[in-house]
Amino acid sequence: MAHSGRSGRAFATRTVHHPEAEVASPPVATPLYQTSTFRVADAATVAQYAAEVQPQAYYTRWGNPTIEILEKVIADLEGGPRGLAFASGMAAVSTTLLGLLSPGDHVVAGASLYTGTTTLLADELHKLGIEVDFVDPTDSEAFARAARHETRMFYLETPTNPTMLLTDLESVSQLADELGVTVVVDNTFASPYNQRPLDAGADVVIHSVTKYISGHTDVVGGCLVTDVETAERLWRKRTLLGGSMDPFAAWLILRGLKTLALRMQRHNSNAMAVARALQSHGAVSRVIYPGLPSHPQHDLAARQMTGFGGMVAFEVSAGRAAAEKLVESTELVLLAVSLGGVESLIEHPGSMSHAPLSDEQLQRAGIPPGLIRLSVGIEDPDDLIADLQQALDRL
Ligand SMILES: Cc1ncc(COP(=O)(O)O)c(C=O)c1O
Repeated sequence: MAHSGRSGRAFATRTVHHPEAEVASPPVATPLYQTSTFRVADAATVAQYAAEVQPQAYYTRWGNPTIEILEKVIADLEGGPRGLAFASGMAAVSTTLLGLLSPGDHVVAGASLYTGTTTLLADELHKLGIEVDFVDPTDSEAFARAARHETRMFYLETPTNPTMLLTDLESVSQLADELGVTVVVDNTFASPYNQRPLDAGADVVIHSVTKYISGHTDVVGGCLVTDVETAERLWRKRTLLGGSMDPFAAWLILRGLKTLALRMQRHNSNAMAVARALQSHGAVSRVIYPGLPSHPQHDLAARQMTGFGGMVAFEVSAGRAAAEKLVESTELVLLAVSLGGVESLIEHPGSMSHAPLSDEQLQRAGIPPGLIRLSVGIEDPDDLIADLQQALDRL
């Protein structure tokens, strides 16, 4: 093939090598390093990188500049020294559990958790010889009471999914400290805008980045923030298990993150308006939102959260069939699992997100048949309230 172009290289070569991409001025937006591997100067450098913890630009399963920027930003937002990004929230959860626990260890977990996390704790860890006890997440003393000599970890979510129960982060972290136990908190529901578990004394904070942090319902990802030593241990586990994030996902998440504060302000105010409106509808027997004075742990919410978030749970008095009908009757509020995006989503945990749970697990998680979970988006609150009202009026 004839050589041409400014470089004098062949067409096929010029489709692969883009000197145009090497810009002189640094960009304002974060560059996307969509590459699986990185050029190195010599073989000795490869050997050196392969032996290092978190080497610079070696192979994307190890790390990648776009992903590292995201990790630094999230660590900064959660107020911790190190961040690690993962392919999904579950990759962050599973890597944390497998990286910090060994056969013979014992975990005390809150009884109301994301289904995948419950299954991982209850079934998969059991197969590895790790025992788990589930306790009432609203009772921080219950975590300490269930602790034994072998207990290595307290695992919890606050607010919980989907029942919006809270755990007192300061109190549980203090008890854990006395017992020498690691506290892991899934902060997905609150977002770092509304709650910072590390400030309250937790050791590891986890997110499904799929939710508020990315915010646009177009990417799946996870992250954790912790101290340097734990991060290095979990980085090794992540690299081995392979749950690393894709650079494009990191780029999308960094883009979404730029509006996190604005979005959370709107989620917080919209959820409060929706919760109040639901409270006054005759078909609704109970609204569970930490921002409402009727929430049994409203005082704790006001103490440990700077905003009450966009998640609202409510119960329809007519039970399961009515709840199933309701979630199919909203027009603007979309019927879908997941949460934390700009669009409002509705779901019925009993038949959707928590369907894999046994009746006993559902009961333990306090999920009544008529419970509905609402992820309140950033739309106009009056439109959201009107949509929910028309759906409730049909029951
Ligand atoms: C609280 C919580 N933690 C973890 C996860 C798992 O995250 P992902 O779906 O990104 O794996 C979810 C997913 O819904 C969640 O709600």
